[in-house]
Amino acid sequence: RAPMRIGVAGLGNVGATLVSILQKDADSLTKKLGRQIVVTSVAARSRSRDRGVDISGLEWFDDPVALAKSPDIDLFVELIGGEDGPALAAVRAALEIGRPVVTANKALLAKHGVSLARLAEESGAQLGFEAAVAGGIPVIKTLREGLGTASIARVYGIMNGTCNYILTRMGEEPIDFSECLRDAQDLGYAEADPTFDVEGFDTAHKLSILSTLCFGYEIAPDRIHVEGITRITQADIRVAADLGYKIKLLGIAQRSDDGIEQRVHPTLVPKSSAIAGVDGVMNAISLETDHVHELLLAGPGAGGPPTASSVLSDILDIARGAKVPPLGVPSPELLPYKQAPMRAHEGG
Ligand code: HSE
Repeated sequence: RAPMRIGVAGLGNVGATLVSILQKDADSLTKKLGRQIVVTSVAARSRSRDRGVDISGLEWFDDPVALAKSPDIDLFVELIGGEDGPALAAVRAALEIGRPVVTANKALLAKHGVSLARLAEESGAQLGFEAAVAGGIPVIKTLREGLGTASIARVYGIMNGTCNYILTRMGEEPIDFSECLRDAQDLGYAEADPTFDVEGFDTAHKLSILSTLCFGYEIAPDRIHVEGITRITQADIRVAADLGYKIKLLGIAQRSDDGIEQRVHPTLVPKSSAIAGVDGVMNAISLETDHVHELLLAGPGAGGPPTASSVLSDILDIARGAKVPPLGVPSPELLPYKQAPMRAHEGG
């Protein structure tokens, strides 16, 4: 079969790792798929920056939209980030011509996911976004393919690796918030603007994508109650520990008689619960359904290799000719969505 030619826009931590994995594992991937996968073209802001990956033989684009539309690629990977701007323009441009797109951009999907899914449906393009929620955990696949006809009553979890890393470190040593955040940035976990992490917005973006998938509603992240971790002190963590709890930043969405209740906030979880054991950069997503009582998926939630590995899993599905799970367009009869009043979290 003809090689699949990939264009990658955005060469930050995830983009550079993806290009390097595709170059290093080229032979084993070809054996596995019976088809070569080659990164042929890239777009990024600076051509000369050292990213620890060889891009010298690749076609260079200054404009990601031009790359998305280039006749010389078969699949477009968007790792630019940002909810509008060049990421949105480039993804739209690729989908409009029926070209498959893989993205890790949760902010983009939280704001435009449903309209992009509609566009993809109209043009017959595939839109893969496994990497947008919970880094390396295959939660999107599990939701779309792994639960049969089960109906989801509640989804909750740790959806931001940076916050979980900070809260874990603060629980282990007398270190302050800003030092932990700097370390998380150095390790490549945090967003370009870490406010999105620590103020809970990144968790809200991921929660709104999960809510759309789980409940079939088009849920805007700005309708979610959001509180981050910036006011958590060492004293809070110590008092919680003395009482037998850990503090975790949770995203929670659940069905109730009044609608769908959704929120993001620091939560006390009993030390004996499974989710309390999820420390460091790890994420965990709990899915509660009528058939499977509770499914807890845990794994690395941020960083280059886990996130690039989820991007790669969508690329491989598309290269094999498999359908990647769509975001799902909400059915009109489910609308309008109603935000239910908040109740205490009973998880863990
Ligand atoms: N900044 C995000 C996090 C990256 O810390 O979880 C993965 O989405």
